[in-house]
Amino acid sequence: MAKGMEASSYRSSAPDASGRVAYSADEHAIWATLYARQTAAIADVACDEFKYGLDLLKLSPDQIPQLPDVSARLKRETGWEVAAVPALIPFSEFFALLAAKRFPAATFIRRREHLDYLQEPDIFHELFGHTPLLTNPWFAEFTETYGRIGLAASKEDRVFLARLYWFTVEFGLIGSVNALNGIHAADERPATNGGAGAIATGNGLARDGRTQRASEVALNGIRIADESPAMDGGAGAAETANGLARDGRTQPTHESALNAVTSRDRLKIYGGGILSSPGETAYAVGPVPQRRPFDLIEVLRTPYRIDILQPLYYVLESFRDLHALTRVDLLAAVAEARRLGLHAPLFPPKPLAA
Ligand SMILES: [Fe+2]
Repeated sequence: MAKGMEASSYRSSAPDASGRVAYSADEHAIWATLYARQTAAIADVACDEFKYGLDLLKLSPDQIPQLPDVSARLKRETGWEVAAVPALIPFSEFFALLAAKRFPAATFIRRREHLDYLQEPDIFHELFGHTPLLTNPWFAEFTETYGRIGLAASKEDRVFLARLYWFTVEFGLIGSVNALNGIHAADERPATNGGAGAIATGNGLARDGRTQRASEVALNGIRIADESPAMDGGAGAAETANGLARDGRTQPTHESALNAVTSRDRLKIYGGGILSSPGETAYAVGPVPQRRPFDLIEVLRTPYRIDILQPLYYVLESFRDLHALTRVDLLAAVAEARRLGLHAPLFPPKPLAA
């Protein structure tokens, strides 16, 4: 159990010898409810690559998909598979799986009382939220490289790397700068203190202190170590280059998926944490949260909390920019982010447990 996390009442069911899990009719019905609701919610706001991947994977609308079936389709596209894991796995295992192109997925599904929000990533989050983009070669190669780098990183560096995953794979937005500016002023860049906006706070988790946890346990993703209050401040602009190369040397060759890239005249969502949550799907592209252009160093310096709607999202211009990170020395970027210091959180401290 990750330090500071509440005990989960969910347990993954072990797959049988063929990799399949026997779900109840009610569990399938919950999937069907989530699937119907979320496909409607994302219709206008998910990025094209996500929707293209969802079509490719042909996830059942009314039955919880079985991992071997999803893996077979993913493998055909990008060589990825989905690996069944318990809800909690060590960070080292998480990174090792990604490096081996195996996306970890807990097999349980949320109960009805948690339809709208569940802190733990369940199979709806993993399959609906994450696997569609793993059909995209740019995204897939970034994720694999991220796993390799994380596997070799120190415990301290992994805390920084977790922010990169959080603000991309989990909560990333994508769109044109114009679209971004249309909703939020172009240069409200740093000002990382205060603000907040309407943040849903509090689920009764204990206030855990001043610095980020360097937990070595991942909740099956990077839903771990959220970073409660008061980092070491250091607001202000880190005007560092984000180091994104754009030379496209190692472009993936999967033309059909690349052709799914269409116009970027609007702000779209690609983060699986958003796209598996109806509330956050509408919120993320609405008027409340801050949105800033993706900048690697800025992302690494931005603390987050896992139990609230995000006060801030980073917006990629394209998946090529994400893929370009595979050619960046991420650990050097981490060192630079550490030298500059973390930004003050935009969120309040977690409330004390009742
Ligand atoms: Fe996730």
